[in-house]
Amino acid sequence: MSALSEKDKAFVWHPFTQARTALTPIPVVKAEGVWLYAEDGKRYLDANSSWWTVIHGHGNAYLAKQVHEQFLKLDHVIFAGVTHPKAVELSERIIDLLGGNFKKVFFSDNGSTAVEVALKMVYQYWFNLGHPKKRFLAIEGAYHGDTFGAMSVGQRGNFNQPFEHLFFEVDFVKFPNQANQHNVLAEMEKLFATGEFAGFIFEPLVQGAAGMRTYDAAWLNEALKLARKNRVLTIADEVMTGFYRTGTLFAIHQLEQEPDIICLSKGLTGGVLPLGLTVATQQIYDVFLADETVKALLHGHSFTGNALACAAACASLDLLNNPDAKHAVETISKMHAAFVKAQKNNPVFKDVRSCGTILAVELNTGTESSYFTEIRDRAYAFFLERGFLIRPLGNIVFVNPPYCISETELKSLYRVILDFAATLKN
Ligand SMILES: Cc1ncc(COP(=O)(O)O)c(C=O)c1O
Repeated sequence: MSALSEKDKAFVWHPFTQARTALTPIPVVKAEGVWLYAEDGKRYLDANSSWWTVIHGHGNAYLAKQVHEQFLKLDHVIFAGVTHPKAVELSERIIDLLGGNFKKVFFSDNGSTAVEVALKMVYQYWFNLGHPKKRFLAIEGAYHGDTFGAMSVGQRGNFNQPFEHLFFEVDFVKFPNQANQHNVLAEMEKLFATGEFAGFIFEPLVQGAAGMRTYDAAWLNEALKLARKNRVLTIADEVMTGFYRTGTLFAIHQLEQEPDIICLSKGLTGGVLPLGLTVATQQIYDVFLADETVKALLHGHSFTGNALACAAACASLDLLNNPDAKHAVETISKMHAAFVKAQKNNPVFKDVRSCGTILAVELNTGTESSYFTEIRDRAYAFFLERGFLIRPLGNIVFVNPPYCISETELKSLYRVILDFAATLKN
């Protein structure tokens, strides 16, 4: 074990990691484009964009320059009672890009806090109106983050069991598929008719942590219509899907109906600095306007509106605006779709699916898909040995690479997945 790894073992507590059984964390000392370089010189292709964030790849010179220039002007400033040009620029651009009724941007630090803020906006909206409502609706398999509110609206299970008694009241409808779509809508209608629901939160088109599970835009349109009809506020959690992951700038751009609130993070800054945004309609914002301070959204964080993160986000939007980025997204999406077509009938896969730049294969284990399957560890080690950092979600192997990946690199990813699949045939 290297000196760096020894010290890591001595001092660091890693996320989502059982230190007793996990492999020694890879000591990464450098990164460039899609590649991560370990201390021993070995390189790894960052197939999941470092927790789905670094959409332009690592070490992007333009992002670095913009952040550096911002640092020289203004690094960080309290965001209550103060504003600054990059926060205003970012807000204006995001509102413009989202279109529709979105009018106000609230800043926080990451995906979980963007969701937390959205949940608080919804509860306080009803509170301020004098009709407090307790219940929320979410979809089975949901993941919205690891803070308490975000956990409350997430799938219950091993990840949050110790805290479950502290969660607020959430009903979960079944994940919509071809067979049950109508029943799920009927169930929603019944629940909403109680008048007790404050809001409905969902990951549009793809449930990420559940295993990159895709569902129909048409179903979501109907669900949003039902919510609107019953005066239930809707939150689109685009923390994972935003910024071209699903092929369009935002997944909600594939819908006819518009949610009331949208949460953004991950790719927002090109994945290089932490930042979360919760964007709301004017109608929601107006309910917080009053002579009494207590009607305001009394929420904030030390780093709310951090100027360096805002500069990174503006620079990332510049890069996304470049035709090269759109071309890259199209190329990846097309190559993924071709892989799906070619592998659809491969018996090793229970399912093969793609949505924009996300590709997932569900390995046939003969049992229910699960996060806690030994095949996950075997696959992870197999990929690492061959120089690919791919973190499967249980028996679901997926890739959502930085958009700067080359066609050759993408093909090498497909190859290594097929190589691993081939080991399962024996
Ligand atoms: C849809 C969704 N929402 C929220 C989060 C939480 O984001 P963060 O890890 O930045 O807190 C995630 C993280 O994976 C996510 O996929």
